[in-house]
Amino acid sequence: METIMGKDSKVVCGGFQTVPLSESRSDFPGQPYSVSVLKAGYCLLQADGTIRADGTITLITGPRTILVDTGGPWDRDFLLETLKERGLGPGDIDVVVGTHGHSDHIGNLSLFPTAVMIVGYDVSEGDAYRPNKLAEGHAYRIDEHVSVVPSPGHTGQHVSVQVTGTSEGTVLVAGDLFECCSDEDSWRDVSMDTAVQEVSRLEALRTADVIIPGHGLPFRVLRNS
Ligand SMILES: [Fe+2]
Repeated sequence: METIMGKDSKVVCGGFQTVPLSESRSDFPGQPYSVSVLKAGYCLLQADGTIRADGTITLITGPRTILVDTGGPWDRDFLLETLKERGLGPGDIDVVVGTHGHSDHIGNLSLFPTAVMIVGYDVSEGDAYRPNKLAEGHAYRIDEHVSVVPSPGHTGQHVSVQVTGTSEGTVLVAGDLFECCSDEDSWRDVSMDTAVQEVSRLEALRTADVIIPGHGLPFRVLRNS
C-alpha cells in the first residue's frame, strides 16, 4: 500500500503519489476563488507523553468568503488579528465550515454568529437548520466552484471543502481526512473507521490536485495517467 519513492515523494496507493509543497506555499490564487492557509496545523508528540496539536485554518475568498476550520479556542486572538490584516471582520465571513467536531478545529465557531455554519453534516443559519443530503453521500454546493463534500472516517460526519479553478487546479481543504502529506503511519490511529476513511481518502486523491491536510502543510497529488 505504501512505497517510499524518494526523499520528497511517496506513493500512497495505486497511481497516486503525493508531493509536499514548499513550506512557504500557503496561497493558491484562483478565479473566482482563492485559497489561503492562515495557519498550518501540527501534531507533535511531547517528551511527557502529551500531544501538542492544532488544526489547520483556511480562508477561501471570492464571491463568498468562507472559513474552513477555526483552530482551537486558544487561536481566538490569532484568528481575529489575521482576518483583520486581510481587511476582514467576523461579520464578513459568509460561511464557516467545521470539518469535524474536534476541539482543535471548531474552537472559535462563536466568533461568527451571522455566518452560515456547516459543521459535519449540519448546515445552519442562526438556529435554522437546512435540509441537506450530506449523510446520503451528496455534496452540499455553496456555488458552482465550492462544494462541501462528505469524507467520513476520521469521524462519522467528517466533511472536506472542494474548490475548483485555482492556479493549482482543484484544491481540497481536507480537515483530518489527511493528517499531513506522509501520514500512512499515523492516520489510522486517530480514525473512527479506517475502512470508511480509506474510501474517502482514495476519492480525494482521485479528484484533488492539492490537498490541505488538518495537521500539516499542503501537498500536491500526482496521478499516473
Ligand atoms: Fe480530528
